[in-house]
Amino acid sequence: MTQTAHLVVTRGTSGDDTHIESYDVPFEPGQSVLDGLRWIRTHHDPSLAFRFSCISANACKECMMLLDGKVIYACTERLTDGEMRVEPLANKTLIRDLVTEIAPPDERL
Ligand code: FES
Repeated sequence: MTQTAHLVVTRGTSGDDTHIESYDVPFEPGQSVLDGLRWIRTHHDPSLAFRFSCISANACKECMMLLDGKVIYACTERLTDGEMRVEPLANKTLIRDLVTEIAPPDERL
């Protein structure tokens, strides 16, 4: 049975004022927050920025973000019926939307 998550996403770029955009995302039980963000990008706004690589292997850690104020991996956190507040990591430099500078300084090219 399809349910609906209401994703409230903080968007913007470093140096700009960030703003909030909300999306109703249909999902089946077991789908991840990353699945929801990919659905938004496909069906509503291809400009929504977020990172991922391994998808559920929990190896790359590129999908780290805040969900309701708590650090999560978007590829393993499950969507739930109702409101979910999604924000970029607070302690990292914001690049755009949910993308932050996560590589250690000595690993950046
Ligand atoms: S996409 Fe690699 S840990 Fe989430």
